[in-house]
Amino acid sequence: MKSFSLHNGDQIPAIGLGTWKMEDGAAKDAVSTALEVGYRHIDCAAIYMNEADVGNAFVQAFDNGLSREDVFITSKLWNDSHKPEHVRPALEESLKLLQLDYLDLYLIHWPVAIKHGTWLPQSGEDFIPIDEIPIIETWQAMEECVSAGLIKHIGVSNFNIRRLEELLDKGSIQPSTNQVECHPFLPQNELFGFCNSNKIQLVAYSPLGSGDRPERMRGESDPNLFEVPQIADIAKKHDKSIGQILLSWAATRGTVAIPKSTNRQRLNDNLAAAEFELPVEDLETIDDIGIAHRYVHGKFFELAGSPYRADDIWS
Ligand SMILES: NC(=O)c1ccc[n+]([C@@H]2O[C@H](COP(=O)([O-])OP(=O)(O)OC[C@H]3O[C@@H](n4cnc5c(N)ncnc54)[C@H](OP(=O)(O)O)[C@@H]3O)[C@@H](O)[C@H]2O)c1
Repeated sequence: MKSFSLHNGDQIPAIGLGTWKMEDGAAKDAVSTALEVGYRHIDCAAIYMNEADVGNAFVQAFDNGLSREDVFITSKLWNDSHKPEHVRPALEESLKLLQLDYLDLYLIHWPVAIKHGTWLPQSGEDFIPIDEIPIIETWQAMEECVSAGLIKHIGVSNFNIRRLEELLDKGSIQPSTNQVECHPFLPQNELFGFCNSNKIQLVAYSPLGSGDRPERMRGESDPNLFEVPQIADIAKKHDKSIGQILLSWAATRGTVAIPKSTNRQRLNDNLAAAEFELPVEDLETIDDIGIAHRYVHGKFFELAGSPYRADDIWS
């Protein structure tokens, strides 16, 4: 299976299974099927509220002979636990639900802080300005969890270059990954270049355009990655599905992709996609599509009175 090297030489599989929007019950089945068909990388998060279900799939797979060391498992610190004293308890809760002794990778989910115990903010008052809990302090608490043997790698998600530079300057451990939305409508070229020069692996979330994203992330005229004639033509030429071309595009460029699927056939197709290298002329055709769009736009953090603006998160 194709994989990429992290800064210390550890490997991260090029395709992982995303678990956002998998309901309790469905998540266990999907993760079990994924492990059965060969996935060795699973992307979880506390806020997906299905870690207990995902954990049941891990227990079953490990009981059936799969080795823990052979699976790369990620989870994410939710925005309500940025205070240093909340980091380790949040991690331990994810480990308990996932029924694991350690994580391969733990991420700061967003550079956004909210009041402890608040899952989804309901009003501006639920937010805490980021300067009140400096990200570096959250990061140092994560570094301590690495020293304690609870995590192998630490990383971030939804971080821009400025925020990455701060961690590179002030942290003792460098971020292993930056997980951001990435697909042909949002290739992240500048951020990807910066990550490459600093040995930070870019992990592409919503690589298929998050077709099942919630209503609050939908706009009337959102473009659809599955309706781009150039991508459809490339798929036809290589006898692949459009989803596979989107994932081959990611893997050929050197980004990890974490597509979500609860369907056995699509799980298989998505995993196989990383093994197919897209020729340069197809990469160039995709570069020239000329449509820009971000699906997970971050405007849900702009409630009245919130100190956060989506534009500040991205740029
Ligand atoms: N760090 C963050 O802030 C963040 C944000 C968003 C996402 N993520 C992570 O990234 C993962 C993936 O992103 P996502 O869930 O937003 O969306 P996605 O993977 O881009 O798209 C998922 C949708 O595509 C469908 N699908 C899967 N394979 C397909 C194929 N080969 N052909 C056609 N349709 C296909 C799925 O349906 P079926 O299930 O029916 O196959 C589902 O409706 C998440 O699950 C999560 O782990 C992280």
